[in-house]
Amino acid sequence: MEFKDKVAVITGGASGIGRSVAMALAKEGADIVIADMNDSRLEEARQQIQDTGRRVLTVHCDVSNYADVEKLAAQTIATMGKADILMNNAGVVVRGWLENLSMADWEWAIGINLLGVIRGVQAFLPYMLKQGSGYIINTASGAGFLITDPKNISYSTCKFGVVGLSEGLFAYLRPKGIMVSVLCPAEVRTNLISNSRYVGTEDEIKEMRQMGKMAYEIPREGLMEPDELAQKVIEAMKQKRFIISTHEQLKDILMNQGLDIQKLEKHFQDTYK
Ligand SMILES: NC(=O)c1ccc[n+]([C@@H]2O[C@H](COP(=O)([O-])OP(=O)(O)OC[C@H]3O[C@@H](n4cnc5c(N)ncnc54)[C@H](O)[C@@H]3O)[C@@H](O)[C@H]2O)c1
Repeated sequence: MEFKDKVAVITGGASGIGRSVAMALAKEGADIVIADMNDSRLEEARQQIQDTGRRVLTVHCDVSNYADVEKLAAQTIATMGKADILMNNAGVVVRGWLENLSMADWEWAIGINLLGVIRGVQAFLPYMLKQGSGYIINTASGAGFLITDPKNISYSTCKFGVVGLSEGLFAYLRPKGIMVSVLCPAEVRTNLISNSRYVGTEDEIKEMRQMGKMAYEIPREGLMEPDELAQKVIEAMKQKRFIISTHEQLKDILMNQGLDIQKLEKHFQDTYK
């Protein structure tokens, strides 16, 4: 896969993983469309990408609203002329014990983490099918293969869904010339925890926030920087890998549970040509 003069659309691209992948793709010669709800970070990202010399379009877009995502697709085609790469990446975490989660919490999580990905596919697929080419990369997580923490059950439910959806998309779309990957990182230093919703007693919320900050915001061994992750994503996309598993320790954990990512990758690559 070559990125020169490709147009890449990235949801949740104003921060963290999305922003780093946007920058890495721009440095590879792609033009970038960033969609996000955070306007000040959108503006920062716009300036950063502009400095690479590539074209950039920023769009205020809430992936939980289909009208916004349809508008994003239409604006991309009108301004950039095409959409070669779509990274469905916007995501949030709802953390708390199951009995404390309300239906509104579940709907918020699913509406962004799973339906947000589906909305992206729904809105952009007609353009890609017409072009006869494209690349869809969905950000799931290691939590899309295993339940890491019962307080994260709604997050894992969504991410399992994103992995399943991506498998189906790969099987259906690859023979039509549209590549699909699913990105499954472990821990990366981003703003995910600050953008999260916590439910429980005041003390539980305080503790969850504190632990989240320590786990995801303060640099430490094992916590990957988003720019390092972005380089791994670029390499994996160049090789058209289906499962982009960026953390070796995650592969080992999954292997111990009987899931061999390498075998799964081979199965998909061999079966759906
Ligand atoms: N950070 C990690 O350790 C980690 C690990 C595995 C998977 N992920 C996944 O990576 C993706 C990116 O998260 P991140 O870690 O970079 O976090 P982040 O909070 O730094 O970035 C997420 C971006 O999504 C945007 N966003 C949130 N809701 C949105 C909505 N409704 N519409 C549009 N944009 C919205 C936020 O404004 C933010 O800019 C998420 O899907 C997350 O679940 C993160």
